[in-house]
Amino acid sequence: MNLTTDYLGLKLAHPIIPGASPLCDNLDHVRRLEDARAPAIVMHSLFEEQILQEGIAHHLFREQQEESFSEAASFFPAPGEFALGPEQYLEQIGRIKTAVDIPVIASLNGSHPGGWVDYAKRIQEAGAAALELTVYFLPSDPAVTGAEVDWRLIEVVRSVKAAVTIPVAVKISPFYSSLPQLASQLHDMGADALILFNRFYQPDFDVENLEVRARLELSTPAELQMRLHWTAILAGRVPIPLIVSGGVHGVLDVVKSIMAGANAVQVVSAILKHGPAHLTLLVNQLKQFMEEQDYRSLEQMRGSLSLKHCPNPDAFERTNYLRTLQLWRA
Ligand SMILES: Cc1cc2nc3c(=O)[nH]c(=O)nc-3n(C[C@H](O)[C@H](O)[C@H](O)COP(=O)(O)O)c2cc1C
Repeated sequence: MNLTTDYLGLKLAHPIIPGASPLCDNLDHVRRLEDARAPAIVMHSLFEEQILQEGIAHHLFREQQEESFSEAASFFPAPGEFALGPEQYLEQIGRIKTAVDIPVIASLNGSHPGGWVDYAKRIQEAGAAALELTVYFLPSDPAVTGAEVDWRLIEVVRSVKAAVTIPVAVKISPFYSSLPQLASQLHDMGADALILFNRFYQPDFDVENLEVRARLELSTPAELQMRLHWTAILAGRVPIPLIVSGGVHGVLDVVKSIMAGANAVQVVSAILKHGPAHLTLLVNQLKQFMEEQDYRSLEQMRGSLSLKHCPNPDAFERTNYLRTLQLWRA
């Protein structure tokens, strides 16, 4: 049974990767993930705001706390709110590399093109095998067009690709007007894989205190549906490896993602909930499923439910939409 898959130039033993999460801050957790058969370690992100804050802190020191900068800085989370500062993050790459034998994938996370992307080079120099680039941005200015939002993402990817030679995966949100076109542009720009999707973390409203409250809820399998849908559409139409992230909890979620056309999946919530042993369980169950269904390799299963051979995907989507609405009978 061949479970191997390619991700970011790496030959992984199987397609179930623990995704970016705080687990990698602690070397014991990292070792437990390796023992649980993780094929790679994905670090949590180093954020644009952290890198800029270092720059702003330096500037503030020189300018003796100039008022305008104090205001700008006040929107940023305080340095203590991040687990690892930028320098510590780079050191952690080296520590994880020493602790385990599997590849270490680092993660940069931001929203604007700018000097912060230079950190990609430092991440490469620190020994990361590859880089995930998460771009999380919600436009709130009515003057900003969809094309400008796309441009911003593409510009960040372009500058990161120019800074490094290690492979770069881009983790995006689903909120773009034409994902196939955007995916195609990112591929042309040199992105080595596309991770579908960022979760959109909506804060809740506290209606008594009139406050907006950040909350972190783990995902549920219901979130997988949209990922499967877009993976099936993009697979075969845009020649870029696809990774499903979001809502992968059970083995059938893995199977469906691969059948939709993904090279691999990432799992975070289920591992945080059940511990690293869940990863081993998923790998064993995947193998068992494939044996029972007479699959010899992941490659044989990949894309069997993608829209690759569909002559008119737009019409297919529209038909499914109409059929779904007819399912309800009062
Ligand atoms: C506690 C926590 C921390 C996370 N930190 C990051 C991060 O630093 N960078 C990132 O790109 N994604 C981060 N994520 C998102 C996950 O990598 C993943 O995309 C998301 O949780 C969806 O996968 P899941 O349904 O398996 O949880 C984080 C998720 C959780 C729950």
